[in-house]
Amino acid sequence: MSKHKLIAGNWKMNGSLAGNDALVRAVVAGLGGARCTVALCVPAPYLAQLQLLRHGSALELGAQDVSAHAQGAYTGEVSAAMLKEFGARYAIVGHSERRQYHGETDQLVADKAKAALAQGITPIVCVGETLAEREGGRTEEVVKRQLAAVIHTLAHCAGEIVVAYEPVWAIGTGRTATPEQAQQVHAVLRAQLQAATGHAERVHILYGGSMNAANAASLLAQPDIDGGLIGGASLKAPDFLQIIQAAG
Ligand code: PGA
Repeated sequence: MSKHKLIAGNWKMNGSLAGNDALVRAVVAGLGGARCTVALCVPAPYLAQLQLLRHGSALELGAQDVSAHAQGAYTGEVSAAMLKEFGARYAIVGHSERRQYHGETDQLVADKAKAALAQGITPIVCVGETLAEREGGRTEEVVKRQLAAVIHTLAHCAGEIVVAYEPVWAIGTGRTATPEQAQQVHAVLRAQLQAATGHAERVHILYGGSMNAANAASLLAQPDIDGGLIGGASLKAPDFLQIIQAAG
């Protein structure tokens, strides 16, 4: 697969005006020559700051969530149109922390992906199994069910998403899926997308879950791993830049 890889940082609920300034300046300064696409998915209030900091660079911006609704009486929600106004090209949807702590269902995640696409924002749709599900031999069934809801809802637009395979047991734990474990699931997701869209080779399927400077190269060398969704390691410029280098 020869398409350029996508490396997306997921800051989660971290950051401050002063800290972001130093981190983003260091990332932008180190980007030169990177052929992969690099994005930072940051807390929504910081998008305005990052728009200024990224100015003139190849760094792309993203959000970590988006409302399924276009506008109106939805206190606390942020719409895709608002994110768009602040330069977001991507929005993570269905991160396991949102599924787990905010009760997001497969259908809500699919509706959020649809709302993002309606504004020209590419949803990064997260799927992944828990440890109990893996140990119960249900990995494939779970990730396929999660992706199926999105494919069904988006119909002919299903090929316009980015997918992130993030095994829940690997997120923030230091316990990474082996390249072989990850590749196996990526191949399943690719086949599912192929059946639905007919051009799954164009879709980026990212791996996420304790990807770091040391393990990135071996994960990114797998044929169906088209990039990474990076949590903890995206908060340290040298680590994040090493992952970008590994992606070529
Ligand atoms: P991690 O997080 O890299 O810190 O494991 C990845 C994610 O949750 O997107």
